[in-house]
This record gives sequence, C-alpha cells and structure tokens, in this order.
Amino acid sequence: MIDHPLVLIEGERIKEVRSDGQVPDGYMRIDLGNATLLPGLIDCHVHLASDPTQSSGNYYKDVLQMSAIDFAVSAHVFAKRTLEAGFTTVRNLGSAEYIDVALRNAINRGDIAGPRILAATLPLGATGGHADDTTGFSPYIEFHGETGVADGVDAVRRRVREDVKRGADVIKFMASAGVLSAEESVGAPQYSQAEMDAIVDESHRWGKRVAAHAHGSEAIKMAIKAGVDSIEHSSLIDDEGLKLAKQHGTYLVFDVYNDDYILAEYTRLGFPASTIEKEKKVGRLQRESFRRAVKAGEKLAFGTDAGVYPHGWNGKQFAKMVEWGMTPMQAIQAATTNAADLLGWSDKVGAVKPGYYADLVAVDGDPLASVAALEHVSFVMKGGAIVKSPAAR
Ligand code: ARG
Repeated sequence: MIDHPLVLIEGERIKEVRSDGQVPDGYMRIDLGNATLLPGLIDCHVHLASDPTQSSGNYYKDVLQMSAIDFAVSAHVFAKRTLEAGFTTVRNLGSAEYIDVALRNAINRGDIAGPRILAATLPLGATGGHADDTTGFSPYIEFHGETGVADGVDAVRRRVREDVKRGADVIKFMASAGVLSAEESVGAPQYSQAEMDAIVDESHRWGKRVAAHAHGSEAIKMAIKAGVDSIEHSSLIDDEGLKLAKQHGTYLVFDVYNDDYILAEYTRLGFPASTIEKEKKVGRLQRESFRRAVKAGEKLAFGTDAGVYPHGWNGKQFAKMVEWGMTPMQAIQAATTNAADLLGWSDKVGAVKPGYYADLVAVDGDPLASVAALEHVSFVMKGGAIVKSPAAR
C-alpha cells in the first residue's frame, strides 16, 4: 500500500509507480483526490450473454420465445455495466453460440466497451445434466443450436477440441448437477472420473485451463483429482475436499452472493418451485463451506456467477465474503492477485505495477475499513483509457 501514489501510464501500460508526487513533463495529470486506488477488479465467473432483467417473469415463455440472437444483441450492454462497475477483466464461463468469443473480439477490436474477456464458449456437460438445456422439456420440442453436451471419453475430448477451435481461452465443464437446471439433484456427479480426467488432459494439452462447475462434495473431489484449475460454486465441499484442493493447488470459487438474489427474485422471475427448493438446499451450506475454506487457508478467487444476478452488481459479493470470514484485504486479493493467478494472467492484470495493463479503479473512502465501498467505484480505467471518472458523474 502506498500513500499518495502516482501512477505513470504510457499507452495501455503502467510505466512507473511513484510516491513523490512529481509528474514528469509531457504527462496529462488525472487527480483523484483522496480516493483509494486499486488494480482493476477481476470476476472469474460471469455469464455476460444473459441477465435476469431479460426475464419476462415466465420461465417457460422465455425458453420458447427467446433465442441466442436475443442474448447476443444485448450482451454488450452487460459487458459495459460490468466494466463501469470496476471489473476490467472477467472469465465468461459459458454462453450459447460462441457469443462470448464474438463479444471478446469486438471489445478487443475497440468496437464496444467491455472488460477483457477469457471466454469458455460452450460448457461441456453430460446428457440430461446442467449443460443440457433440453432437460425437463417434452421430447417433441425441437431445440436448435450447438451445445456442449458430450458423453464418453472420446466425445469429451472431441468437444474440448471443438471449443478450442472456436476460440475458447478456458474450458468449462459441469462436474455436478446444478440449481437453475432441471435435474432433481443439485450436487450429484454428472461425469465419470474417466470423463473428467479426459477433459482436463485434453484441455491442458491444448494449453487451456479448466473450470469445473461442482456443488456436491463427491463431484468436487473427482474434479480436483482430475486436475482442474478451479472449482466453481464449491458449495458442499467437505474436509477431504479442502485437503485435496490444497494438495493440488486448486482454486476454489464461491459465488456467495447469489443465494440472496435467487431466494428474493427467482419466484417472481417465474422459475419452478423445484429450483427454489434446490437453492435452499445449497445456499446456506455454501456460505458455511466458504467460511471453512477461508479458515483452512485455501486458494480462493473471486467469482460471482453474474448473469444469475444483474451484471454490474458484481461488487456486492465483497461484503458477503467479509461477512463469512474474510478480511477486506483477502476479499480484495481474491479479486486481484489471486484471480489473475487463476486466469494465468498474473504478469499483466491484478496489480498496479510497471509493465502491467493500466487497469485501475478508484473508490471514495477506505475499502479496508468498509469493503462495501467497492460497490461504488468512482473511477475506472482500462488499458490507459478512462472508462468512468468522477467529473463525468
Ligand atoms: N449457476 C448455478 C447453478 O445453477 C447457480 C448456483 C447459485 N446458487 C448458489 N448458492 N451459489 O447451479
């Protein structure tokens, strides 16, 4: 931590960090007054191609009437909201029809505003599982479009290759059942150990890290043994799972804000009662697991599953993480240094250091005293370009 930092920026990178207050000639000066300056925040788990505000209030109507094109058309709005909330880098862990690749590319070209994106493309999952959107519907309804559904060792290897071919930066697969999908279970494993092993082996061979969705304790352990880089949700992780995660150096990502939003809003959004019941089974336990993971000194990275709740609200999770056992500094590190490490980008984002991207946020007040300050960033810069500034408020 530095008092009165002076960050010299050239082009899209940080050139130097000083504390002497001397601005050399030839630099434009941006004075942020008493604000606290931090590295741009990182959310390791978002779904930019959808948002609960798109819901009509009738779940089945939405499934029948909306297409991937509806989601693609609006995704840039959610990308911009995310960036303006101070999240300059995100990992998009699944969207239909390669929307995340198109979004990432349009942002990188400078066509639209948004965070740096690592895209997972189509998440892999078993027939009838969390990635199989046709589960729970009549077999007479025809669904179009490519999915990540793949069964068996050969098919999952092929599916990983297809994702990589289409532009995936990271591979996502569903190791267990889920809350918002139609299966009965929340946490049962949905792939065999051999299938999980094959997904990780194939992904790593192509140089891609792997994120596994897993709520149940058995599925979590299987995915860790397979060698995944992160467990997403991690809801029912047991002590053996915590031990395994430590041994393997696996990051755990807990979307601990989600439960509040789902229980408050998803009935109104028209989700089936069975979904709400499933959330009640894992929400509270997930937070207790998070507390145990913090105590055990696990590697924890910040990921919200935004898209389940509104984009731009990502920062609300910080206060939850502190409520459930982290210090404010740990929560901030989860969304900066740790997140960058999980993404494999610790040489370019997640810190205010020479050579790193000039991705910066500022907040009024001291987030170490009140981490909720991160819910309202007053200044955002991405790659040396001002996205949001107090003057423009
Ligand atoms: N996408 C996740 C699922 O459907 C959301 C889980 C949200 N619940 C929670 N307690 N984190 O499984």
